[in-house]
Formats: sequence, C-alpha cells, structure tokens
Amino acid sequence: MSLPDKGRSTEELLAEIARLKRDDLPVRGGKVTAYVYDTGRPEVHEAAARAYFEMLEVNTLDPTAFPSVVEMEKQVVGAVAELLGGGSGVFTSGGTESVMLAVKAARDSRETGGRPRMAVPVTAHPAFHKAAHYLGLAVDAVPVDPVTFRASPGGVEAAITEDTVLVVASAPSYPQGVIDPIAEIAGIAAARGVPCHVDACVGGWLLPWLREAGADIPPFDLSVPGVTSLSCDLHKFGYAPKGASVVLFADPAMRRRAYFASASWPGYTVINATVQSSKSAGPLGGAWATFQALGREGYLELGRTTLAAARELREGIAKIPGLRVLGDPESALVAFGSTGDDDGVDVFVLSDEARKRGWFLQPQLSYAGIPANIHITVTGVTLRGVEAMLEVIAEAVEAARERGPAELPEGLVELVAGLDLDALDDAAFGELAAAVGVDLGGSGQPEMAVVNAVLDALPADRREAILIRFLSVIYA
Ligand SMILES: Cc1ncc(COP(=O)(O)O)c(C=O)c1O
Repeated sequence: MSLPDKGRSTEELLAEIARLKRDDLPVRGGKVTAYVYDTGRPEVHEAAARAYFEMLEVNTLDPTAFPSVVEMEKQVVGAVAELLGGGSGVFTSGGTESVMLAVKAARDSRETGGRPRMAVPVTAHPAFHKAAHYLGLAVDAVPVDPVTFRASPGGVEAAITEDTVLVVASAPSYPQGVIDPIAEIAGIAAARGVPCHVDACVGGWLLPWLREAGADIPPFDLSVPGVTSLSCDLHKFGYAPKGASVVLFADPAMRRRAYFASASWPGYTVINATVQSSKSAGPLGGAWATFQALGREGYLELGRTTLAAARELREGIAKIPGLRVLGDPESALVAFGSTGDDDGVDVFVLSDEARKRGWFLQPQLSYAGIPANIHITVTGVTLRGVEAMLEVIAEAVEAARERGPAELPEGLVELVAGLDLDALDDAAFGELAAAVGVDLGGSGQPEMAVVNAVLDALPADRREAILIRFLSVIYA
C-alpha cells in the first residue's frame, strides 16, 4: 500500500475493509472457539460498539481534562471489585498489561538482595514471562499435578527464595481450564511474607456467575487471605470489545506502586496508571456499556448457558472413541487430547480437519509433560451449537484417523533444530518453509499439522526463536 494521492470515500474504504477481512475467522456464531467471546446477543455488542465510538477520541492521558474517564473507570473497576472481594484497581488494555502492572507493583514493593524472582506455575500464562522479561525478574517454574493439572502447593513452597517478590496462581489456568489451589498457595505465600497474584484474567468475570448457576467453584478472589492482587479481563468473559481488563490490589499502597509519574522533562507532567500513556477511552466506553447492557441478570443467564454447554461438551467428548478430556475443568475452558492407544488420533490433524469443516479448534503443543491437545473456550453462544460442534469433532476424529499422523519429511526436525537463524534472512526462511510444504504467505485455510508437529518436537526456546522468525516473515 502507498498513501493515496487523494482522499477516498468512506464507502470505498468500508468495501476495502470487507475485502481485507474475507479470510478472517468469523467473530460471531460460536464456530471459532478461541480469541472471540460472543454473547449471542447482537444488541449488546451494538451498544458496546456505539459507546466505544462515542469515547473513541477521548484521551485517557489526562484525567483532569476528561473527567468522563475517571467516572467511567471508577464505575467499571468498582463493579469488578464488588464482585471479586474488594480492593482498588486500574483499568488496563488487557490481561498482559494487568499482569505487567501486578508484577511491577510487586517488584517495587520489596527490596531484594539479588535479582527479584517470581514463582510461576508452568500452566500460567506467558504474560508472566513477558513481564519478567520486560521488568528484569527471574522466573522459578512451579510444577503442576500431572493428573489434575493444578499447581502444586509444595512446588510453590520450594520455589520461594529470599528474592521472591511474587507468587502466581491462576483461576483458572488457560491450558486445561482448572483452578489452582488458591487458598493453599496464597497461605504459603503469606506465611513467607510474599505477595500472591491470582490471574483471573479468564475466570474473574466468569467463575462467580458459574457458581451462582450451580457450579462448585472454590473461593479464588481478593477475599482469600494472602491474595494481594488479581487480574480480570473484561474482553474475555465480560464480553466487552477488546482492550479491556482490570487489575485489583488489596492494598492501595500496592496500587500506587503500579503507577508511574515523571516530571523529568520540560513538557507536560506525566501521570500514568498503565503502561500505555496516550490511549483511546473507546475500550473503557465499550466495557462500561457492555456491563450496563447486560446487567447482573444478563451475566447470570450467560453463566447458566455457558455452564450447560461446557458440561455437554465435556460429556460428549468423553464419549468419542480416541479422545479424553484433560483434567476436570470447573470453568468454561475444555482441553482434550488423544487417548494415545489404538483409537488415538493426531490432534493437530484433527484441528486441520475441523477447520476444513468451518470450525476453529485451537491446538496446544505438549509442554512440561502435558501432551499436545485441543483447547475449546465455551462462551454464551456455544450452547445453541454444541451438538453441531460435537458432530464436527467426531467427524474430524474419523478423518484424522484415516489420514494418520502428520508426516514430517525425514530429517526436518533435526534441520530446524540446528538452523542458524541469524545466518538466514526472512526470504530464505520463507523458501525453506515452502520447500517442506508450508506456505507462510498463504491465507484462507492453512494446514498447520506439519508446522505444529515440528514445533511440538522442539524444546521451548527453539520454538520461541522459530515463532519470532515466523512473525518477522509474515510481516515482511
Ligand atoms: C489466564 C490468562 N492470563 C492472561 C492472559 C493474557 O490476556 P491478553 O491476551 O488479554 O493480554 C490470558 C489470555 O488468554 C489468559 O488466558
């Protein structure tokens, strides 16, 4: 693209956007079981979109210039605190930013002799590794139980050192949708004088409604002794447009540690509650309107349908020969893998087969002894299509069995493992991928089984190097 010489009409631009989006996965309808959260109620999304648009050009940079931002944020954060055990909070752009602020607050709350450290279960979201990377912390991995996939309290105890500034637990963790033993872990952290963050990015605005709808959900929020901060994404089960999350702190002094101010220049004074400085108030408006449009009743109803769909899905999957549900997820996230016996299937091929049939089921690589699997996020809209989803999964299993496991050209894994990526430019990397049948420039319905199988065979640091190169190539 180059900048057009003359401005173009809005109609023309919208037509072009429609063309650009042609190969995108649909954001509504429930056939995409990751990334998007659909209430199944178009009027709610419409209200959010209109409020987003109203607030679009308001800059949250200066709360004294735009008092609407302060009022809206207090209302949204207040509602989250009311549901999740109190505290004071910050409205952020997403789970990663909420986690970043929680880690910064913990780091700046405590002097350590050595490099500050964080105890992080292997199932916790990479946002913690990203925060550690950006903020200069070291991560101590905490193992999970191989059957329940819940973080091991003994592992947390063992991981705490005198330089530990934060212990992390998830409610639930994304990969298997299970809730870590929050009370036990927070108790251990408190006994050692270490703050404990509960990552409820997925569960914060979901688990309370599931509980009210009849699910057995243990306490997980700021009311649990020892829990010092919590993240809750509104652009997940709050069903708000993207760019909406809240991080809560039990102690207001800790929230101040998340803030940043600078008067060290001759320009305007900078006071930031978030990593971003200038930013649109659109996402805040969208989240505020979604809360208002759904209300308690709306969220409870979504909780009921989500719970019913998640149960139906789990039971249905368990009946399909060759598949097994991983763990016993209390939330609306369901992961399933191959039974690994004669009936077993290659889950990466299964995912490709489902995609051919119009459904996106998210593949997850094996890690820390947890086998490769497929992850489904059940949302408010899932219930009406859950039978169709189960049929597609069963068909995809059959097709995957017929096709057999992804066939890797001999020596490919060793070749990729040994690649000197620094000596390879983006074009050469693209050609190499094409030579083994992977079209990195393609769109539409990519066959990912071979790519996933190669990545699956590599250690994490090698996977990361390849993924970064992949990103660089697709943006070339
Ligand atoms: C448990 C958990 N924490 C944090 C995040 C990061 O959220 P975001 O993608 O909004 O930055 C996710 C995203 O899936 C998540 O599942």
